[in-house]
Amino acid sequence: MPFPSFRLDGQVALVTGGNGGLGSLGCRAFAEAGADVVVAAPDAARCEVVAQEVRAMGRRALAVAVDVTKRVSVDAMTARVLDAFGRVDILFNNAGVISPKTMIDLDDADWHHVMDVSATGTWQCCRALAPQMIARKAGRIINMGSILSSHGIANRAPYCAAKAAVANLTRAMAVELGPHGINVNAVAPTVIVTDLNRHLVDHQPQVYGTVLARMPLGRLGQPEDLAGALVFLASPASAFITGQILHVDGGFGAT
Ligand SMILES: NC(=O)c1ccc[n+]([C@@H]2O[C@H](COP(=O)([O-])OP(=O)(O)OC[C@H]3O[C@@H](n4cnc5c(N)ncnc54)[C@H](O)[C@@H]3O)[C@@H](O)[C@H]2O)c1
Repeated sequence: MPFPSFRLDGQVALVTGGNGGLGSLGCRAFAEAGADVVVAAPDAARCEVVAQEVRAMGRRALAVAVDVTKRVSVDAMTARVLDAFGRVDILFNNAGVISPKTMIDLDDADWHHVMDVSATGTWQCCRALAPQMIARKAGRIINMGSILSSHGIANRAPYCAAKAAVANLTRAMAVELGPHGINVNAVAPTVIVTDLNRHLVDHQPQVYGTVLARMPLGRLGQPEDLAGALVFLASPASAFITGQILHVDGGFGAT
């Protein structure tokens, strides 16, 4: 058996929430490893900025508008991407939102929006893109979990519920899609400073101070800290790994 490669040359990766902090990092990481990249998020103009960065790295890139909570939008994205590239080898379901309110103050719309983007959106994109992977008997799906897939925290009830759903959806789809040659895994970061949380990191330092105090590596994450895990889970090097939640958490989960 040849030594497995960490390269993604000739593959096509699709990243939802691809214009955000961790999504754009994923786009650049997959491109650095050799993949062409589809950058997908509601704001196509912001996706195009990331697509231009990918092209500057010598890869092909396509910016596509998508709302992962809407089947019609996900189906339109799928049709456009398959028309442009003919395949998606790597699907990174990264889109996610938070609603930082107490569980008493949340209203129905807050709850459903957070659940819909992370949990329902992940399933919607897998439902749309798995068939062309099944047809080729190959594919990699990486879902965006969180340390809050397995831990609770105040003022994040729907986020914790949604990320726990993503973790077990990952396992369920790994079981179902494994016989079709598709690996399904998740990454579970702790706090990585992006637009999602920069305001809270800056203005409510006590919240993240509690997290930081539990991190053996002694610092919050930077987006680049996620690159190795994403490329590994997308590459031939992880061929025998599926159904796993890979924590990228500075050791938080070990404490
Ligand atoms: N930053 C962290 O500390 C951290 C930790 C653990 C997990 N995560 C997860 O990482 C993912 C990316 O977060 P980030 O920190 O880069 O935040 P971000 O706000 O920079 O990015 C979120 C992305 O999701 C996209 N998005 C929102 N609603 C969407 C929809 N309906 N359809 C498609 N895309 C949509 C946004 O356009 C944006 O590109 C999220 O799932 C988040 O929960 C982040």
